[in-house]
Amino acid sequence: SLSSFISRSSSSSRLSEFVDAKTELQDIYQDMSHFLSSFVTILEESILLEDLQMLKKLCNFASKVEAIQNVLSRNRMKVAFFGRTSNGKSAVINALLHEKIMPSAMGHTTSCFCQVQANSTDEPEHVKIEQEEEHLELSALNELVSAHSPRALKPRTLLHVNMPKNRCSLLDYDVVLMDTPGVDVTAQLDDCLDSYCMDADVFILVLNAESTISGVERQFFKEVASKLSRPNLFILNNRWDVASSQEPEMEQQVKDQHMERCMKLLMDDLGVYSDEEQARQRIYHVSALEALQLRNGCNTNPTLQTQERYLEFQRFENDFSACLAESALKTKFGHHLLSARELLTELEATLITPLIAKVNQLIKENVERRQDLNVEIEDRQRENIEESQEFQIVSEELDELALDVGRRVLR
Ligand code: GTP
Ligand code: MG
Repeated sequence: SLSSFISRSSSSSRLSEFVDAKTELQDIYQDMSHFLSSFVTILEESILLEDLQMLKKLCNFASKVEAIQNVLSRNRMKVAFFGRTSNGKSAVINALLHEKIMPSAMGHTTSCFCQVQANSTDEPEHVKIEQEEEHLELSALNELVSAHSPRALKPRTLLHVNMPKNRCSLLDYDVVLMDTPGVDVTAQLDDCLDSYCMDADVFILVLNAESTISGVERQFFKEVASKLSRPNLFILNNRWDVASSQEPEMEQQVKDQHMERCMKLLMDDLGVYSDEEQARQRIYHVSALEALQLRNGCNTNPTLQTQERYLEFQRFENDFSACLAESALKTKFGHHLLSARELLTELEATLITPLIAKVNQLIKENVERRQDLNVEIEDRQRENIEESQEFQIVSEELDELALDVGRRVLR
């Protein structure tokens, strides 16, 4: 059926690996933190174990663990979208969200950086300018980030678009989508790119399949690639619905030409892939608009071509999700797992082992003292018995004496 065709996607299974790993790692750090605080309590409450230096060390450990817990809770998978104005960056994001959230229109639209993510708490949906407290209605998005509006935010602004977790599974799996203004604008904003985008796990270049990759786009990605070692890069030749229907007899040739140019970009210009097949797999011909229309129920009768383009969109979604989860697992959690191991080893060597030795020593001393006491008690008891035996003898002798005396008196 159409609905199962539309929802057929396996991206979630890979993304859940990230969420599961995050939960597991958070549990490890949670356990460590409980363990440390009970140790601190024992040390603080026991006069015998009093050791200020050890207490200080333990508190240091505890604050390290807390800092990592904070970083862990903020860790999410990030995808950044780039491309020239009107290529459909915002449209791709909307298709991934299954609903039109981001303003998407002809001409220069997205006016600033927009980070779409799930709420961390149960707050209702809202938008919020970073560094500001005020929560604004989601409906204010059009006014705030559409360059067509007089109130549009300045390009350097970072806007948080916070959605309820259950609104979209991608966001629920801890994925953050970064929408950006066109490359002509973003290329001028080096500092913003560094602080808002360079920590992305996956970069998606959205091209317009009706034309061909431009010099600005190529130059822009050369700079991105020079800042990062081998970024995970995907290329979408978007608006393929329009491009492929203009001269249907040319469809394959146009596709081949896009492929060739995109592969040249990935392999020769950027050097992010050395393997031809791998590079080819990261290039897609899609229609974000059609994908959105299928997903939000606006198209209930898709043509065969639309279905094919939609399958390609799903291939893109599955591939980038898998890559995203794999990359984020490595970069975000790899060293925290290592840190956990190192912290535990250090904790054991510098604190637990000496502490256990100390406790053992105390127990030993206690046992010895008790043994000494026992010996003393036994001695005393023995003396008592001997004394009472003597007493017995004396009393028997006395009895006998008394009897003797009695007999003599009677006589
Ligand atoms: P800026 O925000 O200005 O940088 O543009 P953008 O890259 O975000 O493009 P946007 O999503 O605003 O799309 C521009 C226009 O193209 C909108 O009218 C979309 O509806 C339309 N559009 C986007 N993708 C497709 C597509 O695959 N097919 C068709 N036919 N139209 C599309
Ligand atoms: Mg946009």
